[in-house]
Amino acid sequence: MGDKLWGGSFKSDTDKIVDNFNASIKFDKRLYKEDIEGSMVYCRMLAKQGIITSNEAATILNALKEIYSEIERGDFAFDETLEDIHTHIEKALVRKIGPLGETIYTGRSRNDQIVLDTRLYVKNSTIKITNLIKEFQLSLIEVAEKNQDLIMPGYTHLQRAQPILLAHHLLAYYEMLKRDRSRYEEVLKRTNVLPLGSAALAGTTFNIDREFLSRELKMENVTANSMDAVSDRDYIVEFIFTSALLMMHLSRLSEELIIWSTQEFNFIEISDAFATGSSIMPQKKNPDIPELIRGKTGRIYGNLISLLTMMKGLPLTYNKDMQEDKEPLFDTVDTVEKSVTIFSRLLKEISFKRENIKKATEKGYLVATDLADYLTYKGMTFRKAHHIVGDMILSAKEKKKELHHLDLHEMKHFSPLIENDVYGWLDPVSCIKRRNIKGGTGPETVEKALSKAKEELKS
Ligand code: ARG
Repeated sequence: MGDKLWGGSFKSDTDKIVDNFNASIKFDKRLYKEDIEGSMVYCRMLAKQGIITSNEAATILNALKEIYSEIERGDFAFDETLEDIHTHIEKALVRKIGPLGETIYTGRSRNDQIVLDTRLYVKNSTIKITNLIKEFQLSLIEVAEKNQDLIMPGYTHLQRAQPILLAHHLLAYYEMLKRDRSRYEEVLKRTNVLPLGSAALAGTTFNIDREFLSRELKMENVTANSMDAVSDRDYIVEFIFTSALLMMHLSRLSEELIIWSTQEFNFIEISDAFATGSSIMPQKKNPDIPELIRGKTGRIYGNLISLLTMMKGLPLTYNKDMQEDKEPLFDTVDTVEKSVTIFSRLLKEISFKRENIKKATEKGYLVATDLADYLTYKGMTFRKAHHIVGDMILSAKEKKKELHHLDLHEMKHFSPLIENDVYGWLDPVSCIKRRNIKGGTGPETVEKALSKAKEELKS
C-alpha cells in the first residue's frame, strides 16, 4: 500500500491518476511551519501526560527540528504519492527515528491537524497584514501632512461638489483602514482557538491536555464541540471576507488615483519608478499599479465566493471538498500582502499638481452651498436660499462667470439681503475654514484628526 497513512483495509494500490488528483502537497507544503510547530507542542504534551517518555519526546523533537531545517534549506523531497504535508512530515519522522515517530499521532487525526495548521496560518497572516495596514496608514498620514494646506474639489456623482482638504480626503481612507484592522482583530479572536483533542470528529479517548496545548500555542481557547471543530472553516471565510473589504477600499483609492492622473483631471503625477509605458504609444504613462490593485480585488471576491460555495452543501463533519479551502486562502494572503505593501510605497511616489488642483477648485460653483448658507444666516430658509442660488448660477453661467465675479449690484438683483460681506463666503479657503465641526474638513479639525491618527498608530 506504498507509504500511505491509510490503506490497511485496501486490497490494491490507488491508481496514479487518483494519487495525483487527491494530493494537496503542491500547495499545502506551505503549512510545514505550522504543522511542525503543532507537532512539537503536541509531543511535549504527550510526555507531560506520561503517554510517551521524556527521552522519547526529546528524540522526536530533535528529529522534527531537523525536518524543519531541511525544508527551510530546500533539502526536503516532496512527493505526490505522499498526499499532503502531514503525511510528508510523519514519514520523514519515521525515516529518521523509526516507529517512535508514529507515536505523536496518538489521539490526533489529520482532520483536527489541518484545522490547527490553518488556524495558526490565518493567525500569523492576520498579524502580518494588520501591521502592513498600519504602514499604509502611516503613508497616508505622511502624504496628508506634506500637503496639509492643499484644497481640492470634493465630488459627489463625480461632479465637483464642495472644496475639501486633500488631507481630509486621505483621512477618509485612514478611517476605512482602521475598520479593516479592527475586523482582522475580530477574526483573530475567533481563529485563535485550539481544535486538537477533536481527533477525527468525536473527540479522542486519550488523556490529552487541551488547555496545555492551547497555552503553549498561544491560543485563547479550546473548541467546544469536536464535530464543529473539524468541519468549521468560518475563520477562513471571515479572513477572506475581511480581506475582500480591505481590497475594496484599496480599489476605490486606486480608482481615484487613476482618474486623477488622466489628462482630463491632471491632478497628480506618479513617479517614473511606479508607472509604466506603452509599447506602441510613446507618449503614454500608465498607472498600472493602481489598476492591478483594482483588478486583483476581483480575485479576492472570487476566493470568497469559492469558499462560501464549497462549504454550503457539506454535511458534518469533514469532507474532502474542504481541501479546496487552501488555494483561495493562500492566494488571498499573497495578493493582500503584496497589494498593501506596494500601495504604501506608491503613495509616496505621487506628486500633486497644486496649480491644476487650485484651478479646478475655483471653477464649477463649488462655493454655491456656502452662498446658500450665507442667505440662511441672513434670515431666509435654506430651501428658499437654495433656489435663489440656483438662479444666480444660471445667470452666472450665461455670463460665463463664477459666483465671485458677479458684482454686488448683480447679486442684489437676486436678493436684497446680500451685502458686501458675501465675498468672504465665496472663496474656497473660507469655505474650508467654516467647517471645523467635528468630522468636517476644517483645517483645525483635520489637524486634530491627524494627531489622533498618529496617536492611534502608536498604540
Ligand atoms: N489535505 C487534507 C485537507 O486539506 C487534510 C485532511 C485530510 N483528512 C482526511 N480525512 N482525508 O483537507
